[in-house]
Amino acid sequence: NIPRYVKIVEVGPRDGLQNEKEIVPTAVKVELIKMLVNSGLQVVEATSFVSPKWVPQLADAKDVIEGIKGVGGARFPVLTPNLKGLEAALAAGVKEVAVFSAASESFSRSNINCSIEESLARYREVASAARKVSIPIRGYISCVVGCPMEGDVHPSKVAFVAEELLKMGCDEISLGDTIGVGTPGSVIPMIEAVKKVVPLEKLAVHFHDTYGQALSNILVSLQMGISVVDSSVSGLGGCPYAKGATGNVATEDVVYMLNGLGVKTNVDLRKLILAGDFIRKHLGRPSESKAATALNKT
Ligand code: HMG
Ligand code: MG
Repeated sequence: NIPRYVKIVEVGPRDGLQNEKEIVPTAVKVELIKMLVNSGLQVVEATSFVSPKWVPQLADAKDVIEGIKGVGGARFPVLTPNLKGLEAALAAGVKEVAVFSAASESFSRSNINCSIEESLARYREVASAARKVSIPIRGYISCVVGCPMEGDVHPSKVAFVAEELLKMGCDEISLGDTIGVGTPGSVIPMIEAVKKVVPLEKLAVHFHDTYGQALSNILVSLQMGISVVDSSVSGLGGCPYAKGATGNVATEDVVYMLNGLGVKTNVDLRKLILAGDFIRKHLGRPSESKAATALNKT
């Protein structure tokens, strides 16, 4: 009982590169995005219009957007934490944005420097401004099963934030296991709670693979009817404000699993691996994707 088509939201250029110690040159980011699109990915989160003091790695957001102008065949959403970010994104020509909240107060504070309620008030403004110009908006929730400071997070907290994001007009809501602590044991009850308030078609899952649980968590999410999966080429990623969090599940591994399940993704795994090779060579380290590593040896 698994969806026949899964939409992959590639978050490597954003979630991946926001956490790199060395700042990646704009030209490398642009080339990576082009290679990802060339592999067939239809949504590539390109960058964030956040404070450059908080995330210097993505301070070149405007130039990245400029660099991918004219690249067709994919959508390029960006993160916008407030109206200032939305305005800058729109001025740069962005056509789709995302806001990011959390199910844990401590994480909200450390990531965006405000409480959950304050963030929701801010995002209502962003969502209403985005709607006025007919820009689709995604809402993220971080720490959906665990928080680096507070530990276990109750499903009702996630459902509360999800419902608020839906009410303000988010078209899609992505459930983030920011620190990759979830297992099917915690993920299933969380999705059960959220699907009571948000239609399944509007949900996406976003697993970091810190504890090696991401593919299992994705599989149970698909079995529950979710058909949008976030992942990051080569398993890049991590949140600078979530200590110890490692990368997102590798897109190559997700595509390999979905191919095995006979689920369509539109992604050419060989071309995707080339994109992963390109960025890992630039970063000077091996891929976090087991499928890419194995296929590169054959
Ligand atoms: P603040 O310091 O409370 O805000 O930061 P502020 O309004 O006082 O502004 C501080 C300075 O930043 C000011 O500059 C503003 O102009 C500037 P100054 O006057 O000092 O020169 N500023 C901006 N500049 C550019 N673009 C903007 C912007 N906004 C303010 N949009 C703020 C609050 C939200 C801005 C800050 O905390 C921030 O940028 N946080 C972003 C953190 C971030 O990007 N985290 C990673 C993404 S979330 C994630 O990875 C999780 C996810 O993957 C899901 C999961 O895995 O769970 C999505
Ligand atoms: Mg993330």
